Amino acid sequence: MTSFAARPGSPGSRIVGLGSFQPDTVVSNHDLAKIMDTSDEWIRERVGIVNRRVAKPEELLVDMAVEAGAKAIADAGLAPTDIEAVLVATCTMPSQIPNAAAQVAHRIGVLAAPAFDLNAACAGFCYALATGSDLVRAGSARYVLVIGAEKLTDWVNPTDRSTAIIFADGAGAAVVGPSEEAAIGPVSWGSAGDLSGMIAVEDRDSFIFQEGQSVFRWATTQIAPIAIDAVERAGIELSDVDVFVPHQANLRIIEAIAKRLKAKGARDDLKIARDIVDSGNTSSASIPLALDHLRQAGEIASGDVALLVGFGAGLSYAGQVVRCP
Ligand code: UT7
Repeated sequence: MTSFAARPGSPGSRIVGLGSFQPDTVVSNHDLAKIMDTSDEWIRERVGIVNRRVAKPEELLVDMAVEAGAKAIADAGLAPTDIEAVLVATCTMPSQIPNAAAQVAHRIGVLAAPAFDLNAACAGFCYALATGSDLVRAGSARYVLVIGAEKLTDWVNPTDRSTAIIFADGAGAAVVGPSEEAAIGPVSWGSAGDLSGMIAVEDRDSFIFQEGQSVFRWATTQIAPIAIDAVERAGIELSDVDVFVPHQANLRIIEAIAKRLKAKGARDDLKIARDIVDSGNTSSASIPLALDHLRQAGEIASGDVALLVGFGAGLSYAGQVVRCP
């Protein structure tokens, strides 16, 4: 039997550009304490957030994704027409259809690209990065634009102190391209659908609900092994990791996972992304935002090994190691 022709893929893949966007409006803990029964002290102590960015009503998820995506393409030194697929990880699109990705591709100037949204909530960016990497390695696309974008404030009850203090808006993006070496490691991913009720928007008229303490316990016990598995799958040691960039859900969760990584061999000088302090929890946008902010601050250099791990509603989780562009 004659086999079908295959487009040649690439032995490896790598992140070749990063970009991010946050709305201008800063909402501090003090601002929130004026409209609900909370305090700066409680939020700093229990969650670690000091400020968060919030989009204006007319600033849409797609607008933020376009800004972040265009910056990532420019950072890669590419033109929009070089991009052959656009993936938007999001769980907060206001419409079921159309999706975000096709609009983002069109507005950036990516011509007739395959474009789709992917919803794995706060694990979404790592899911999309793995998918983008596989598209490049399989030859389905040479350059893939991977975006995490959320307007969580559309889905949060603005007076609910259990969620309104946490969630925020923004977008982060990476361009994935071909590489001789594997500079995006194999993904470690999965889900626990039996726990799907822990974080949910029940119907189209509801706001986000989460069983905070249960999710906290799950994240602090189940996610470090996923991160470690991602390191092992890449064939490297925890001590090879330069920077740890987990989903920015809660500073106490970030510190708890980092402590476990150090107990298992991560270096004492492991850099840890603490972008949540001034960005809040932006779900699928939090990892690319944190990575881009660390790079802008000169905290990471090209070639550094970053360990990414996302986790959240689904419940779902995913992690991989990447070389910083
Ligand atoms: O990104 C997706 C994945 N999500 C997560 O990973 C979230 C994981 N969970 C968390 O980060 C934390 O559970 C929260 C930040 C959501 C809540 O923090 P907590 O330390 O678990 O607080 P709690 O819900 O156990 O509440 C402790 C107390 C309660 O008062 P009583 O019953 O002890 O009197 C709450 O009513 O704190 C009260 N409380 C607040 N007080 C001031 C809850 N929210 C607030 C608030 N300000 N905003």
